Amino acid sequence: MLSEVLLVSAPGKVILHGEHAVVHGKVALAMALNLRTFLRLQPHSNGKVCLNLPNIGVKRAWDVAGLQLQDTSFLEQGDATVPTAEQVEKLKEVAGITQDGAKPEGLAVLAFLYLYLSICRKQRALPSLDITVWSQLPTGAGLGSSAAYSACMAAALLTMCEEIPNPQKDGVSASRWAVEDLELINKWAFQGERMIHGNPSGVDNAVSTWGGALRFQQGKISSLERPLALKILLTNTKVPRSTKTLVASVRSRLLKFPEIMTPLLTSINAISLECERMLGEMAVAPAPEHYLVLEELIDMNQHHLNALGVGHASLDQLCRVTMAHGLHSKLTGAGGGGCGITLLRPDLEQPEVEATKQALNDCGFDCWETSIGAPGISVHSADFLDPSVRQALDGL
Ligand code: MEV
Repeated sequence: MLSEVLLVSAPGKVILHGEHAVVHGKVALAMALNLRTFLRLQPHSNGKVCLNLPNIGVKRAWDVAGLQLQDTSFLEQGDATVPTAEQVEKLKEVAGITQDGAKPEGLAVLAFLYLYLSICRKQRALPSLDITVWSQLPTGAGLGSSAAYSACMAAALLTMCEEIPNPQKDGVSASRWAVEDLELINKWAFQGERMIHGNPSGVDNAVSTWGGALRFQQGKISSLERPLALKILLTNTKVPRSTKTLVASVRSRLLKFPEIMTPLLTSINAISLECERMLGEMAVAPAPEHYLVLEELIDMNQHHLNALGVGHASLDQLCRVTMAHGLHSKLTGAGGGGCGITLLRPDLEQPEVEATKQALNDCGFDCWETSIGAPGISVHSADFLDPSVRQALDGL
């Protein structure tokens, strides 16, 4: 078992097209954001397992000996199976979760314990450690914060248990794992996501793991050619929502109105494919007309997402405000509030972008221009870590 401190980070994501449809086997196009989640794992010999999540006010500690005594043999299968309701209940008992386990705090603790007990169970004795996770990503906003959390947790625990090697090189600020190790990280990150979201498609953890720009369909991932000039305004409406509830609501609408909903999902799939084709053309020879097509695709998808029932008044407002500035927006992620994206054409003058941002801020929204296609899960050298991140991990 490794004894050194590990510092890892994973990016959040935006979905360009295909959210919700991807849960039903359709294509999604997703990109890694330059907003990241950071995790520090400090091995100990004090007989305790400590979890600190300063963003959501979680500070928990368990005695390793107590955890060792619990019967968690049901995790033996720890493979690609969905944890059953009984297993989740048992884990809640082990975690000592008495409050509503569906709250983000409870879910984050559950996902941690699940990954810790499953990944470390091959060790002779469960390890004593201290984990702190701090994120630049807002939680519950559709930017993949839980997937970034699960990916960091999986990567750090697998590395500490020497299931995968530590790829960190001396004098290098950030290093990445080999493809086969990333596959294992992604598998466990997906399991963590399942603890948090129930039945996710796996697109979020794939972006957190692999980074860049991805096409995702039924667990099949490939990298996407994308024009470097693609710029996006990311807006957080700050309306809280639950991915799990929204995914379930689409499922029940699909069961209730299959004849109406199936063509919508097929059409969203076609939008993703057309967008992929456009991005491919733009990578070779970008032209202003391409952006007009991308804008049309955004508008059509936003209407479809409203028809799926995952829109929200705040997102309608976002679309109206940006449209008043000649810009096109759609929700990104689960919808029901959360975040939206606005395409920024290269011909846009900066004052126009600033005026749009101001108008969105005036609505009470947070918004920022993002760079997309950030690297996936990485391990960092402490010497190169941004002081603000180090400070946040140290508890300020
Ligand atoms: C959430 O970021 C994207 C959804 O499609 C859910 C999923 O893919 O698991 C809404």
